[in-house]
Amino acid sequence: MKISSVGICLFSLFSGSLATPLCTGSLNVESVKMVHKIIQAAYNTNDTSTWDSLAEMTDLYGNRMTGTVQYDRSAEWVLRNAKSHPELVAWGEDVSVDYWQRNEESVELYIPTREPPVVKLNMLGLGLSVGTGPKGVEANVIPVSTFEELEQLGNSTIAGNIVLFNADFISYSDNSKYRRLGAENAQKYGAVGVLVQSITGYSLNTPHTGSMTPSSIPAAAITIEDSKLITRMYNRHKAAKADPKIPNAELFVPPKVNIKMNAQNHLNYTRSPNIIIDLKGSEKPEEIVIISGHLDSWDVGVGAMDDGGGAFCSYDALKLISKLPRRPKRTIRVLMWNNEEYTSKGAKSYFNTHKDELDKHVFAMESDIGNFEPWGMRVMAPQEQVNKLAAYGKLFLSDIGGGNATITTTAPAVDITPLCNYGIPCGSFETLDIYTQKSPILLQGKEGYFRFHHTDADRMEILDPRQLRHNVVAIATWAYLLADE
Ligand SMILES: *[C@@H]1O[C@H](CO)[C@@H](O)[C@H](O)[C@H]1NC(C)=O
Ligand SMILES: *[C@@H]1O[C@H](CO)[C@@H](O)[C@H](O)[C@H]1NC(C)=O
Ligand SMILES: *[C@@H]1O[C@H](CO)[C@@H](O)[C@H](O)[C@H]1NC(C)=O
Ligand SMILES: *[C@@H]1O[C@H](CO)[C@@H](O)[C@H](O)[C@H]1NC(C)=O
Ligand SMILES: [Zn+2]
Repeated sequence: MKISSVGICLFSLFSGSLATPLCTGSLNVESVKMVHKIIQAAYNTNDTSTWDSLAEMTDLYGNRMTGTVQYDRSAEWVLRNAKSHPELVAWGEDVSVDYWQRNEESVELYIPTREPPVVKLNMLGLGLSVGTGPKGVEANVIPVSTFEELEQLGNSTIAGNIVLFNADFISYSDNSKYRRLGAENAQKYGAVGVLVQSITGYSLNTPHTGSMTPSSIPAAAITIEDSKLITRMYNRHKAAKADPKIPNAELFVPPKVNIKMNAQNHLNYTRSPNIIIDLKGSEKPEEIVIISGHLDSWDVGVGAMDDGGGAFCSYDALKLISKLPRRPKRTIRVLMWNNEEYTSKGAKSYFNTHKDELDKHVFAMESDIGNFEPWGMRVMAPQEQVNKLAAYGKLFLSDIGGGNATITTTAPAVDITPLCNYGIPCGSFETLDIYTQKSPILLQGKEGYFRFHHTDADRMEILDPRQLRHNVVAIATWAYLLADE
């Protein structure tokens, strides 16, 4: 029973807030009742099931890097779990994946005034980096804070040395270019290796890994603290060279490091699945709304936040909807993507495998930027549709949060990018900063997330059962509305 604009306006009056844009919508009364049931679940304070199940999987199998046996065991855990919900249809879809294997690695800094004079730095090689061979790469370090500075120094200064990119954190988008492109750029000037100051605004001597554009020279992340130490050593040495009479000038050696990395790239290493879990629609089962997160993680921490939270909140949103007395018209499909972290083979494979049904995808959502207090969605779709979503969000999610919707003109999350660029309306589900509660659309609104991102500290303790429950409810609300309009 589809009710007219009048019905929606009546409902709006009922709840005491007349939202004019909704008067042109086509939500039906039954749909609204179901959304209210979904929202009730937010207040079920005893329900810690999302946190508990993610803890179980990550405690059992640890992190889930694409190509590893832990990834496949985790995928099997999810499929077993889904099979115990007969209303859900779950399967794995194999993807041909590469495997970047870290192996043993180290960075040693020489400070002859210390005892011992070899200081082992906390470090993490960057994903897709080449290895160094058993002797490592040993050279002096030249710090630069921008690509322009690198260019100015040019071959004469850089050739034969290791470049350190030491830019202070502004935002992930401002800084991650040094991680991604640092080696490729430094190589042009004859650098023999690259160190990158970890992409974070806050550090407890924590290195952050991440992927890079493959290059012929090795690259590793070091901590903010060690990046600054090396920079100070370089500046003192420079000052001593300019004026050998300054106090302690003879102690100011140039920073020299030895990078050893046994990293290996294995192309076409194995086949390993994307996970797909469907709740079939009641009227138009061929039409699909995707809610998603990626199942793979880096090989450090357990990938609880990145992106266990996004994947499990999406999955539990589907379970929540499956328990309602009324199914939405369209199919809601959970995707747990493989290989987001380095080459997006999972997203590409889904796009190719499902070419024939892409036109039946009505919306694709991904949650991959933390699951703290829910904020809402950044949506790539026509302004009219975004306005309608914003009106729904305001109407249904004002109490628990997660109901904002703003427009974006570029694909807002990695795995849904092929779908967004194909023209399927899509959204990134986002939350407030874990510490400052700032909105994720502000430059500093994700700083808290990046304290943990791609580190050994990406553990369950970042996540909060109540916040996860609210994320589940907000994602389920969006999914139900999109699948039942
Ligand atoms: C939570 O569980 C306790 C103890 O079983 C119970 O007394 C309480 O009513 C429950 N709260 C909710 C919101 O279900
Ligand atoms: C800089 O050095 C690289 C490698 O040593 C070399 O290929 C390149 O031609 C040099 N560029 C200039 C401008 O000298
Ligand atoms: C890997 O697989 C792709 C596609 O299946 C193929 O084009 C490529 O040549 C393979 N590469 C290697 C190194 O086997
Ligand atoms: C939108 O985000 C703000 C915080 O930036 C929050 O206070 C508000 O509740 C959100 N609105 C909805 C409808 O979720
Ligand atoms: Zn992620």
